[in-house]
Amino acid sequence: MNTPLCHTPPMGWNTWNTFSWNINAELIKSSADKMVETGLKDAGYEYIVIDDCWSLKERVNGRLVPDKEKFPDGMKAIADYIHSKGLKFGMYSCAGTHTCGGYPGSFEHEFIDAETFAGWDVDYLKYDYCYKPDCADGANLYKRMGLALRNCGRDIVFSACNWGKDDVHSWIRGTGAQLFRSTGDIQDNWESIKNIVSSQIGTSSTSGVYCHNDMDMLVVGMHGNSDNEWIADVVGGCSDTEYKTHFALWAIMNSALMIGCDIRKMSDATLEILTNKDIIAINQDIECRGPYCIRQWNNPENVFALVKPLSGGELAIGMFNFGDKTNEMSLQFFDIGLPYSSGRGLEMYDCYTHSTVGTFTERMCVQIPSHDCMMYRAKLVRTN
Ligand code: GAL
Repeated sequence: MNTPLCHTPPMGWNTWNTFSWNINAELIKSSADKMVETGLKDAGYEYIVIDDCWSLKERVNGRLVPDKEKFPDGMKAIADYIHSKGLKFGMYSCAGTHTCGGYPGSFEHEFIDAETFAGWDVDYLKYDYCYKPDCADGANLYKRMGLALRNCGRDIVFSACNWGKDDVHSWIRGTGAQLFRSTGDIQDNWESIKNIVSSQIGTSSTSGVYCHNDMDMLVVGMHGNSDNEWIADVVGGCSDTEYKTHFALWAIMNSALMIGCDIRKMSDATLEILTNKDIIAINQDIECRGPYCIRQWNNPENVFALVKPLSGGELAIGMFNFGDKTNEMSLQFFDIGLPYSSGRGLEMYDCYTHSTVGTFTERMCVQIPSHDCMMYRAKLVRTN
């Protein structure tokens, strides 16, 4: 018991983005099957998380109870099934009196609920922020559930979800949470992805081992398919290029990687994006150092690089073009601590072609198509 959990950002799948309230045992089991069959599990995804709308609208004898129509055999049976696949089981509750969907929250029931989840063999709890009484201090409510989970007799990952409110970065580590949502809810459109990234550039130093930034569940592969009209949005989702860039950003910014599409119906392109082992390796680097940002001097709004030091001396370098036409990124190595006078350059390995593209000195200049990105591992080499 009490093994340190989530050294690196957790990876998994969550019901909310695509299914919202429309969840049941069959959906969970068939998604667990697909997690294994498609190779997602082998790529590192392990948590199957049931989000809001799983319980009855009222407690029974003070306890949360699953909706029998959605989960006729109860939650322990779901846990057993998920565990039999070598995966882990996540559930959802809320720090307020009710969940956002109007189901009972854990406010003033934190310790009994942690005990209930442990009794169902739950491995992960997402903990939301709706209907928080004004008189209650949010940080204190997360401390309560953090303490309850750490003492419930089972290792349960604590996934805080207060949308980045109330200066969460300054207190979240103290609650024992392994990850924390730092933004409002994502939508399946390019504007939403851009807004989340813009709000998170510069906060990287607060994310680190055992307590990771969570930029919300991925919309990769949704293509506008969601039972939740607000998430689906009217524009029909993103292009595969935009999903590729979205995934690269979440990876290099050290976010949790929680898939939000219907993994039973993924296209080849979606699966390729989600299982890119070189991109995942950057996200899962053991030191969990957040990236810093270098903006293109003559196009700073649209074009920038994120640079993340990796264990062992390499750098992960992502170059991104948020603009609506092809744009140039010219990364001056001076800006990342490598002056020309050092007699050293960077050998660049492309994470999409999975091959080395060459050694560069002083700078690397690339043309990035609209909404696209480049992702490299850069290795320091002598050049003279
Ligand atoms: C929101 C949360 C979403 C989802 C939803 C469920 O507050 O940010 O990720 O969990 O509640 O109602």
